[in-house]
Amino acid sequence: MKHSLATAYSKADKKEARWDGLFIVFEGIDGTGKSSQLKRLGEILDQGGYPFISTREPSDGPFGTRLRELFYSREQLSSQEELQLFIDDRKDHLARTILPALNNGIVVLCDRYFLSTVAYQGATGHFSVEQLLAENSFAPVPDIALLLSAPVPACLQRITVGRNEKPNDFEQQLFLEKAHAIFATLEFPWLKKIDCSRSIDDVTGEIEKHIQPLLMQRYQKESAL
Ligand code: TYD
Repeated sequence: MKHSLATAYSKADKKEARWDGLFIVFEGIDGTGKSSQLKRLGEILDQGGYPFISTREPSDGPFGTRLRELFYSREQLSSQEELQLFIDDRKDHLARTILPALNNGIVVLCDRYFLSTVAYQGATGHFSVEQLLAENSFAPVPDIALLLSAPVPACLQRITVGRNEKPNDFEQQLFLEKAHAIFATLEFPWLKKIDCSRSIDDVTGEIEKHIQPLLMQRYQKESAL
């Protein structure tokens, strides 16, 4: 975690910004390479001297930890109980980690946020997109959400072969197909869709292109990265 440089930057667009930092979210189904891209963006920010933290949902707080324990046995909870845990986790994560960092001028890189709830809990078939967005209306929209997308078989291949892991209950093919389809329907001005079936470097390059102007605007530096 890096807090020390926060005050070195003056705040841009004072009237409109909801915080001094920059809230960058990575979204997409499992196996899109979003965690690796998040890590790469962190390295780039580091080189540029930007203060940042990397975090994730489910978070490492009490609700998120409980959710991770249930990854291989989702049937222990009803869909409603599971949704409630994701919501409780998000509230806790915002209060404990995300908002304090943003209010301190720090860039927050977050691996998954409320669109994951929309896509994954939507994929259970128990909730509509509208319902899930409404359940998340307490959550401030990020400055930008990068939605990494690639065909599901390629993503599954990365999970099983690349990581040598057994897919968890959220990662079964049919379920991922549904989550992928829901992600594809989402449109917001702050949501950027990125084809991640290209090379890792090309994807990082596109991510940089999206982030650069936001950094320049928020931190008023002449060149961002
Ligand atoms: P993931 O990013 O895959 O964690 P890890 O890389 O540590 O395995 O996220 C964990 C799973 O949680 C993922 O399969 C999607 C699921 N999830 C939801 O179903 N709803 C949500 O709101 C979030 C944040 C995640």
